[in-house]
Amino acid sequence: MSEKIAKLEINGEKYEFPVIEGTENEIAIDIKNLRGSTNGVITIDPGYKNTGSCESAITFLDGEKGILRYRGYAIEDLAEKADFLEVAYLLIFGELPTSKQLAKFHKDIKAQSIVDDDIKKIIDAFPKTAHPMGVLASLTSALTAFNPSSVNVDSEEEMYNAIVKILGKFPVLVAWAMRKKQGLPLDYGNSSLGYVENILQMMFKKPHEEYKLNPIVVNALDKLLILHADHEQNCSTSTVRMVGSSHAGLFASLAAGISALWGPLHGGANQAVLEMLEGIREDGGDTKKYMAKAKDKSDSFRLMGFGHRVYKNFDPRATIIKKAADEVLADLGVEDPILDIAKGLEKEALEDSYFVDRKLYPNVDFYSGIIYRGMGIPTEMFTVMFALGRLPGWIAQWREMRLRKEPIGRPRQVYIGENHREFSKISDR
Ligand code: ACO
Repeated sequence: MSEKIAKLEINGEKYEFPVIEGTENEIAIDIKNLRGSTNGVITIDPGYKNTGSCESAITFLDGEKGILRYRGYAIEDLAEKADFLEVAYLLIFGELPTSKQLAKFHKDIKAQSIVDDDIKKIIDAFPKTAHPMGVLASLTSALTAFNPSSVNVDSEEEMYNAIVKILGKFPVLVAWAMRKKQGLPLDYGNSSLGYVENILQMMFKKPHEEYKLNPIVVNALDKLLILHADHEQNCSTSTVRMVGSSHAGLFASLAAGISALWGPLHGGANQAVLEMLEGIREDGGDTKKYMAKAKDKSDSFRLMGFGHRVYKNFDPRATIIKKAADEVLADLGVEDPILDIAKGLEKEALEDSYFVDRKLYPNVDFYSGIIYRGMGIPTEMFTVMFALGRLPGWIAQWREMRLRKEPIGRPRQVYIGENHREFSKISDR
């Protein structure tokens, strides 16, 4: 326990608060007793930019240095040497699995990968135009109805069963959300395949032909899912923890997280990148014009996929995924005018003093959308793919929050409305 103290003076009264330090020397003022000791004073911090909502042992990131680690392991090592299921196990249970543990984990997930056939009726009720993120959030919520038992978090076994259930069923829902839009029959994949291989098969297999797995595509998707698997207390993860803090079940908490991820300021950015590139192409493909617009302060246009709230030097995930993007596109022989526009923008931005001075580099979403498009995944599915990758992170954070017996999330506010007013009858107004 650190001996450091933070001192606060309000209207001449002095207070002291403990300062806590994380394992990476991050410092936080512990204000748990602020209201009690100050007679009701609170802090205000819209967007929680200065507020730690929890202590967590899952993910460490340092935006200045471009560091991202899951459970202490560098993202570069995990992306290179581990597969997605190993990383999921690591995030959720804290340690890399032995081969025996991993085999059991995968077997248990596969045993739970059947989604109740009646869920198809719910899918049928959606119009084909429905956004797959809305469909995914609804179907994840619907799973609650088909798996009603709430999780007794004091039972490791119940917790484990809930986790393998959702890891088994979620990829089926993802594939169904895409296939419904394309008018393809919904099926359950092939449980003799690896986790990621099966996802690709479930998404792309045509009813009348064999689906041939391409190892370069499998490897790229595996990496993309690993890179998106956790990012500490972001908007969707905080939502999962917040909803779970009311002791709502795991699936209900995840459904809320999916909705939070949908927004263009969060997971929706990968879709926004492709829409921007398509817009530039339709307008004649003049990248210089759009570079100028991005730099013009009187123009609201921003180069989507550039810059990051936390990473101010580079996004370590972007460095890893750029390589995979080059491999996939070369292997698939993709020729796409959108890619030429993307490459043009990337080159110009990396050499332009506006972007260099402001430390605006391509982020993971700039490249992820390009790979997904190369793989034949429709633009509207990009954020769904992000959700698929983020699932283990959400589960790990929900599990940690429940095991640490965190209190229900309930922020305070500073009220700025009317003071007490006399009620007047409607006839007197
Ligand atoms: N294009 C043009 N200018 C930009 C961009 C951009 N993409 N991003 C930032 N800037 C400029 C700002 O205008 C500002 O300039 P100024 O100092 O002259 O006023 C400066 O760079 C700093 O920008 P902020 O908005 O203060 O940076 P912040 O950290 O708040 O925003 C954000 C980060 C939201 C990601 C921003 O860079 C952005 O909007 N990028 C495009 C959207 C995007 O790609 N989002 C995905 C993020 S990755 C993810 O969610 C997984």
